[in-house]
Amino acid sequence: MTNILILGGTTEARQLAGKLAARADLAVTLSLAGRTESPVAQGVPVRVGGFGGAQGLAAYLKETGTALLIDATHPYAARISANAAEAARQAGVPILALRRPGWEPVAGDRWTLVDSVAEAATALGTAPRRVFLAIGRQEAGAFEAAPQHHYLIR
Ligand SMILES: NC(=O)c1ccc[n+]([C@@H]2O[C@H](COP(=O)([O-])OP(=O)(O)OC[C@H]3O[C@@H](n4cnc5c(N)ncnc54)[C@H](OP(=O)(O)O)[C@@H]3O)[C@@H](O)[C@H]2O)c1
Repeated sequence: MTNILILGGTTEARQLAGKLAARADLAVTLSLAGRTESPVAQGVPVRVGGFGGAQGLAAYLKETGTALLIDATHPYAARISANAAEAARQAGVPILALRRPGWEPVAGDRWTLVDSVAEAATALGTAPRRVFLAIGRQEAGAFEAAPQHHYLIR
């Protein structure tokens, strides 16, 4: 059996786990941070909670004899991805990162590029606007700094 650890918390991670579950030669574990109270079934055994940084994750990989680490976390989850890369290096385990394609500008778009969600809130300006937020629950609080706007939050 080949042990695989998927760092999840995304639809893609769940879908990948579901597909790999059918393979009799693989023992797949999916890891969740524990942010969601009742996460949907992931199709494979799940472990929950942080590892204690890159070192903790490296130790986990060694202890469990993990042969492949798959980083299928959300693009906004920057820390765990950096930790995963470092832990894989420390443990000498190959890592595969599943990345969503970014938005590509097309003709007719009007982009304003910012470095953070807080900057995006500022970039909306002072006059009230109707704003669609497609950034996820964890970051939405940053827009409390600009309460003059009307927000639709997906
Ligand atoms: N940020 C978002 O908008 C967003 C949206 C949808 C889903 N998610 C999912 O929610 C989780 C947390 O997101 P975040 O932005 O708080 O992450 P983060 O800032 O990158 O990670 C913070 C800490 O949470 C722990 N952690 C994160 N993902 C983990 C996982 N899959 N398994 C075990 N521990 C994990 C790690 O703790 P230790 O250092 O102790 O190991 C990590 O250092 C991620 O798994 C991500 O895929 C995030």
